[in-house]
Amino acid sequence: MSTDAIVLLKQEHKELLRLFKAYRTADPGDRAVRTDLAQHIVHDLTIHSYLVDEVLQPMVAALLNDPAHPALQGFQDHKAIDRLCEEVAERGGADPGFEHGMTALLSAAVQQMEREEREWFPQLRSALGRKDLQEIGLRLLAVRETAPRHPPGPVSGAPQGAPG
Ligand SMILES: [Fe+2]
Repeated sequence: MSTDAIVLLKQEHKELLRLFKAYRTADPGDRAVRTDLAQHIVHDLTIHSYLVDEVLQPMVAALLNDPAHPALQGFQDHKAIDRLCEEVAERGGADPGFEHGMTALLSAAVQQMEREEREWFPQLRSALGRKDLQEIGLRLLAVRETAPRHPPGPVSGAPQGAPG
């Protein structure tokens, strides 16, 4: 199995797109299946955002050691995706805004993936050596085991600390 960071992230994109398609084509009346798929999507997207923003980008920045390097220009953080994940996670399948939230989340995520694959990944491929990308990939695989699985927002059922 390749540990090349770009190969790994493209595999994640493929798996995410497969889940998106399953969600879009799921029976609109089958709330249990839709909620389950939505949870799976939020879970996988949360990990993916974390890996790109908190592992890949800092490692690339450190390796290139030049904030103005063109290979850093194609990076777009995943904060908007994270916010949409939080919204969906807070609502739950019975909420009337849930489907709208999912539509917004999926379209934002697809746009970002397309942009990464079209612009950023090729920039990284030409700026970094094979060994660097493999090293980053190994780190991605290791961090994936402990990356946050849920948006940082309130999780239903879990008591939150008193607001400060
Ligand atoms: Fe991505």
